[in-house]
Amino acid sequence: MAFSGTVRTYGAVRAVDGLDLEIRRGETAALLGRNGAGKSTTISMLLGLLPPTSGTVRLFGGTPEEAVRAGKVGAMLQDGKPIPRVTVRELLAFVASTYPRPMAVRDALELAGLGELGGRRVDRLSGGQAQRVRFAVALAGNPELLVLDEPTAALDVEARRAFWRSMRAYARRGNTVLFSTHYLEEADDNADRIVVIDRGRVAADGSGEAIKRAVGGTLVAFDLAGAPSEGLVELPGVTSLEIRGDRALLRCADSDATVLALAERGLVRGLSVTPASLEDAFLSLTGAATILEGAR
Ligand SMILES: Nc1ncnc2c1ncn2[C@@H]1O[C@H](COP(=O)(O)OP(=O)(O)OP(=O)(O)O)[C@@H](O)[C@H]1O
Ligand SMILES: [Mg+2]
Repeated sequence: MAFSGTVRTYGAVRAVDGLDLEIRRGETAALLGRNGAGKSTTISMLLGLLPPTSGTVRLFGGTPEEAVRAGKVGAMLQDGKPIPRVTVRELLAFVASTYPRPMAVRDALELAGLGELGGRRVDRLSGGQAQRVRFAVALAGNPELLVLDEPTAALDVEARRAFWRSMRAYARRGNTVLFSTHYLEEADDNADRIVVIDRGRVAADGSGEAIKRAVGGTLVAFDLAGAPSEGLVELPGVTSLEIRGDRALLRCADSDATVLALAERGLVRGLSVTPASLEDAFLSLTGAATILEGAR
């Protein structure tokens, strides 16, 4: 599956702005990005629901429309479709019947954690249950590629865990999975590869580990205890500064140099030195890190 130089505009908005991305068979990839980064637009183009303004999208060596028509792709979209007044089992049986090599309805129910709800009408489900039905619908055609746009958004902790277990089981059968999320830990835990999307482009691409390494860094934090924050960002080894209440958080490329400089200034109260988390890496990659130099 490949995007090359793909652009999608909505009037003046460049929702996807020159996307180059290739995902290989068998991979589980996470699209990670802030609200409005371009994840859903990317997914809609991959599914042939939205034509690119320019550039190309290829899927299984053909167009997205061809791959979808051949039953190779299952999708769970962000905006739920209106739900008909049939039972969960009836809905799945109908969807399965539209595919050339569907999954047994029983298996789709099982994988989506709907074991007990097969006989329930789909318009009488909770939000999280309805979301599981949409997952089962995505599985019904037994697709080689599963595309999931924020699949865990309405799920409680337990349902979320169960969902990822099912997803990974499906991926282990040799299938390809692409999912979008804002949940960094989920991306790190459940994908082999994380593609960070920012302003319609790839901002970073690699394993969770590689992304953390690339952004690098260590967080050094200490209590200002009334000291001014001016000049901290210019200290040796510091790449950015954030002030949270009375605490200064310094993102550092060379934390040893930074800690020495802080010690020289007597700024060591509550000092902590920790490796940057994936969340820190993400924020710095998407430019959302707030640099509040001189905010005090
Ligand atoms: N139908 C539309 N008409 C106009 N602008 C749109 C439309 N759909 C999306 N956009 C804009 O395109 C950009 C990308 O939107 P998109 O839905 O792809 O983001 P996203 O990464 O999925 O965000 P979220 O995390 O909120 O779901 C945003 O600036 C959004 O406002
Ligand atoms: Mg979206």
